[in-house]
Amino acid sequence: MKDILGELEVRRAAARSGGGERRVAAQHAKGKLTARERVELLLDEGSFEEFDMFVAHRCTDFGMEKDRPAGDGVVTGWGTINGRQVYVFSQDFTVMGGSVSETHGAKICKIMDMAMQNGAPVIGINDSGGARIQEGVASLAAYGEVFQRNIEASGVVPQISLIMGPCAGGAVYSPAMTDFIFMVKDSSYMFVTGPDVVKTVTNEVVTAEELGGASTHTRKSSVADGAFENDVEALAEIRRLFDFLPLNNRQKAPVRPFFDDPSRIESSLDTLVPDNPNQPYDMKELITKVADEGDFFEVQKDFAANIIIGFIRLEGQTVGVVANQPMVLAGCLDIDASRKAARFVRFCDAFEIPILTFVDVPGFLPGTGQEYGGVIKHGAKLLFAYGEATVPKVTVLTRKTYGGAYVVMASKHLKADFNYAWPTAEVAVMGAKGAVEILYRSELSEPEKIAARVKDYEDRFANPFVAAEKGFIDEVIMPHSTRRRVARAFAALRGKKSAMPWKKHDNIPL
Ligand code: HXC
Repeated sequence: MKDILGELEVRRAAARSGGGERRVAAQHAKGKLTARERVELLLDEGSFEEFDMFVAHRCTDFGMEKDRPAGDGVVTGWGTINGRQVYVFSQDFTVMGGSVSETHGAKICKIMDMAMQNGAPVIGINDSGGARIQEGVASLAAYGEVFQRNIEASGVVPQISLIMGPCAGGAVYSPAMTDFIFMVKDSSYMFVTGPDVVKTVTNEVVTAEELGGASTHTRKSSVADGAFENDVEALAEIRRLFDFLPLNNRQKAPVRPFFDDPSRIESSLDTLVPDNPNQPYDMKELITKVADEGDFFEVQKDFAANIIIGFIRLEGQTVGVVANQPMVLAGCLDIDASRKAARFVRFCDAFEIPILTFVDVPGFLPGTGQEYGGVIKHGAKLLFAYGEATVPKVTVLTRKTYGGAYVVMASKHLKADFNYAWPTAEVAVMGAKGAVEILYRSELSEPEKIAARVKDYEDRFANPFVAAEKGFIDEVIMPHSTRRRVARAFAALRGKKSAMPWKKHDNIPL
């Protein structure tokens, strides 16, 4: 008996050693943790339960039968993050470069199936040389099986990808279909074809980092939702994000203890909007002053900064925030901002996370660049996302909201539940100057007349009361009481039930 127990320990130790000391040292030398070290930091201490530690590949080509490492290059299982269940896979670059074989893929599929069955999120840690070259099409099939599960799990359980090393070729499409992708600066990259192929085909000379590093994907492509300095920071931040999310689409997000008065008055908000309508202010100040304990988990902060998205809590409950940022492009909507916010709104709606929208938007960005890029279709994504969202929706207008952008930004017409405006808000078809130039074109050569017309238009429309008279604004509120009003609105909406007409699925303008 003792011998058998001893053998188990020996086998476990062999599996845990991954690709051996030399390769582990090489991994550490690159500033990267090993697959198991990452799982340990991600999960609550001692909570990890491993599956398939002894699974080995079945390949017999290229002498592979002589090298059958236990676990086959991926560590899989489940554990908890602050007590809540999560399924995890972590590719082990020290074992055949974390390459994906038939059995490696099957291990990932097994935990994805269990996650869907048991209603818990999946976190995938990617660090892999891609398809296991020795296995050929069997490896591609394994990827295909993972892709299909990514699709089936979408909207059922949250899926989060961490890119902590190479992720190239078709392999990128698994993370691409998950809800969030986070990368580590300088040690991770993602691309469909690498620098060598790019050089051959297009003659462009580019490094792996330039082509698909964290900065490229958080600033230019928006493939990634955030980047962190190192593995440790990335894993800690994923734990933080996880706490905002529900386990699945049938449960609400967890309610965390809070030590912040929901009725807290913020007098400084009364002067947040400057007197000069052309002067910007930082919308993040409003978000953090409204949030419980000022805690804001921002997503995609380096991309399309004219719109801000992320999670806060109100009375301990998760709320998704979308807000125009007057500091960047005057907070206008453009292709990038619309895409960014639309995907976020859809994530929130899929997982029953209420949405708070702060609006200060001069309209859509004009220009050939935008029109040729398809701003009509992309802008419609945000419109569509807001209109189809049945979660509680609360909107606060802080300053201007003009034209189509007024309707898009969670207006009453898109079934928002509470639409509040600060006294500084203006709801109009366009700004006073633009309106007068169109209405009184014949008087343009007479500046005094035009100035009087502008003043007239401002007096009539540059306020929230015309919209309030029509019931498009439910209430004009004091900026200092925004936290209280918004928290009470969401509290009133906790029992909200609303549904769209039956359909197989919609046809959002992709
Ligand atoms: C088998 C692989 C492998 C792979 C790496 N290794 N990639 N084994 N299949 N795809 C092994 C290496 O042989 C080596 O084994 C160990 O992993 C570490 O690799 P190194 O090259 O020494 O590491 P490094 O210098 O850091 O380079 C990492 C790398 C490089 C850039 C990822 O290994 C590389 O280019 N690999 C091939 C990438 C690739 O072309 N993959 C297929 C892409 S197509 P030893 O024993 O020496 O430690 C694809 C399609 C997916 O993935 C399609 C889905 C539908």
